[in-house]
Amino acid sequence: MNQEKYNEDLFSFIRNSPTQYHAIANMTRVLANNGFIELREGDSWLIEEKSKYFVTRNNSSIIAFLTGENRPWETGMKLICAHTDSPCLKVKPVPEIQAHSMLRFGVEVYGGALLNSWFDRGLNLAGRVTALGADEDGKEIICTLLVNYDVPLVTIPSLAIHLDRDANTKRVINPQLDMPPLWKADNILKEASLLKEPEISCSASRSFRLMLLEQAIKENPNIHIKEILDFDMSFSDAQPPFFTGFNDNMISAPRLDNLLSCHAGLKSIIRADGPAPCLFVCTDHEEVGSDTAAGARGSFLNSVMSRLIPDSEYRMRAASRSFMISLDNAHALHPAHADSHDSNHMPKLNNGPVLKVNGSQRYASDSESSALFRYICRRAGIPLQLFVMRSDMPCGSTIGPAISSTTGIKTVDAGAPTLGMHSIREITGSDDPFMVFQVINQFFSMESQPILSLI
Ligand code: CO
Repeated sequence: MNQEKYNEDLFSFIRNSPTQYHAIANMTRVLANNGFIELREGDSWLIEEKSKYFVTRNNSSIIAFLTGENRPWETGMKLICAHTDSPCLKVKPVPEIQAHSMLRFGVEVYGGALLNSWFDRGLNLAGRVTALGADEDGKEIICTLLVNYDVPLVTIPSLAIHLDRDANTKRVINPQLDMPPLWKADNILKEASLLKEPEISCSASRSFRLMLLEQAIKENPNIHIKEILDFDMSFSDAQPPFFTGFNDNMISAPRLDNLLSCHAGLKSIIRADGPAPCLFVCTDHEEVGSDTAAGARGSFLNSVMSRLIPDSEYRMRAASRSFMISLDNAHALHPAHADSHDSNHMPKLNNGPVLKVNGSQRYASDSESSALFRYICRRAGIPLQLFVMRSDMPCGSTIGPAISSTTGIKTVDAGAPTLGMHSIREITGSDDPFMVFQVINQFFSMESQPILSLI
């Protein structure tokens, strides 16, 4: 696979993954097409040597693994982790806000979104609905279905500069007042005729649910759906990824944090065929702290590991010998804001993956895990960059410390250099995703992992 094909595939993965649920559905499809067998947490498992499996939780987290030939308690396991969620606008349970003949949808801001960038854009509506339906015999069933309008359904208009003279110097965004996207701006005559019809002036939440019901039926024509009982729906950028800059040397795309890493892990695990057991872990809820059943601080990975290696002493020996690369995007140097970086640590686009270090352990990297990562990059022939926060600014965190602290697995935090993190569109170098992939591929394909020993 060359870089051009790789980026093409990344673009289509991002385009078809407007939410974490869609990302999981897409990953599941690729894994199944590549010989991975689906396991369910509720079933009993028969795990065999040299076999490939995957298991999902909450339709929003996934663990794929190869059992290999080696005994994990003797050689350790190789792990890659990433997160499936991105900042977005999550639809409230009763979303409709009707005023002045216009209809907006109430939203909560999910994660640390850079709100400025969400104005005046086409926003898609996607997510999952849990519906009441009926099976072939007419028996009631409750099922969860994916929904994706895949169009710029709504927009959030800015207030004109003429009505807000300080907009370029003192703009303050109130998430409750400013962020509900605008859906309907009916003309006054049409509105008057609608109000006469009792069915259309039904309760607000009911009409949003009816709208979802229509879409769910359209996307799932073979399932008999009667009613939407509840939903996890969110708005995100409707514009597909594109190349930009001189010779197309940059990528502008929504959700690069962290679909870029999910994609790199996915493309690597389907190629892995060495003797060492390999795991690919993608968890939800990183942007809101990971402290959930499907999040990196939840029980998912430990539960899978205890079923893979039921004996606790063997499992602890395996964890102690294992190594994990936690992939999440890193802050690239912004040309207008070099002062935001420590002057000795200024990662740039198209210059290779970034190793992230923090003395307060907001990143899990330490000298040993960093040394291993350096060694793997060197073996792959890929340059490495470093990021450490300025000492007078607080550092963000990621899933590396969450998984490392709950499993005891030695971990390094690294990721692709990115501009505009948590903007509705983020920018990375056109060479960066493929470089991350090559490093992970190298890691999975190494016969054994380098042994750490203290002399
Ligand atoms: Co992230």
